[in-house]
Amino acid sequence: MSVYKKIRPFLFKIDAENAHYAAEKFLIMASKSILFQEFLARSFCFENEVLKNQICGLDFYNPIGLAAGFDKNATMIRGLSALGFGFIEVGTLTKQPQNGNPKPRLFRHLKEESLQNAMGFNNEGSIKVASRLSQIYPYALPIGINLGKNKSIPVVDALKNYEEVLKDFLEVGDYYVFNLSSPNTPNLRDLQNSIFVKELFLMAREHTQKPIFLKISPDMEIDVMLEVCMQSIENGASGIIATNTTTDYSLLSLPNQIGGISGAVLKSKSSEIFTQLAKAFFGKTILISVGGIDSGEEAYKRIKMGASLVQIWTSLVFQGPILCKDINQSIVELLQKDGFLSIKDAIGADLS
Ligand SMILES: Cc1cc2nc3c(=O)[nH]c(=O)nc-3n(C[C@H](O)[C@H](O)[C@H](O)COP(=O)(O)O)c2cc1C
Repeated sequence: MSVYKKIRPFLFKIDAENAHYAAEKFLIMASKSILFQEFLARSFCFENEVLKNQICGLDFYNPIGLAAGFDKNATMIRGLSALGFGFIEVGTLTKQPQNGNPKPRLFRHLKEESLQNAMGFNNEGSIKVASRLSQIYPYALPIGINLGKNKSIPVVDALKNYEEVLKDFLEVGDYYVFNLSSPNTPNLRDLQNSIFVKELFLMAREHTQKPIFLKISPDMEIDVMLEVCMQSIENGASGIIATNTTTDYSLLSLPNQIGGISGAVLKSKSSEIFTQLAKAFFGKTILISVGGIDSGEEAYKRIKMGASLVQIWTSLVFQGPILCKDINQSIVELLQKDGFLSIKDAIGADLS
């Protein structure tokens, strides 16, 4: 039995957000000690030539990324790297620091291996976090910066707010993500419309040629989702990240009536959205899949469905730090089984 499986029952007795802070403390400590990082990396990092790929001009040594919301303030990057991630997305970050929603705001659904969160973009704000990132940037792994709108900013001023936060990170990120899909900032999801995404990406392209993605919700009507994605791609988006958490509370046996759901119960919904997205846009843009990915098999399935990269969050809580290595090892085996010499050949293989 792994160490994590042994400590998990104790960790799960603590309130979910406090348990996250305990993990954060551990990873901040790891981020400050090279010896500690080397110790972790020996257990958790996995390298294999077949997993390497270059996407949007960035080098990925494996396709498994940490999804946004785990390292909101970019405090754990070195520690997280030692857990074997191929890339790390920090944030969501907003222009002004904000506390987020009142606690409790993070809940576990143990039997369903799912989480429900109503965090509300709690973060230290762009100035402080950009300055922290400048200490380590450029970094050994691609670093994504996930950007959001401050709660206090009315929707009519959202474009300016996104512009301000993007400008603060221009020198300290490898790619950017516009998050219009969190259910925890009032009216944010209303910005997932063709007019706003067009303005948003035209604005962003005046500032940077680095990759910029749109992160979408799994709760949109398919035709609206496709139209919004098309507008973003036609106006400068490098790709789409699908999906954020869902507000479909019917997926849980005992849901809270707030926040967004992630983890195992999101798997099929996220996968369905991704299938529609890939049918429409594979080959035309870069697709990143996230939502309920908890094994090498599931990650490989999304890759064959058209994902150039995948991200994880909730399964890390349930399975612990060995997860990245497990997933990567199993992808290598699955590639071999299918006769692919490189992950590049598997991306979208199920679509042709
Ligand atoms: C506690 C928590 C906080 C999150 N915060 C953010 C966030 O700030 N920005 C964002 O784009 N996604 C956020 N997410 C969503 C994840 O990035 C991811 O899209 C979602 O959880 C689905 O993946 P999973 O099933 O692997 O967890 C958060 C998820 C959780 C569980």
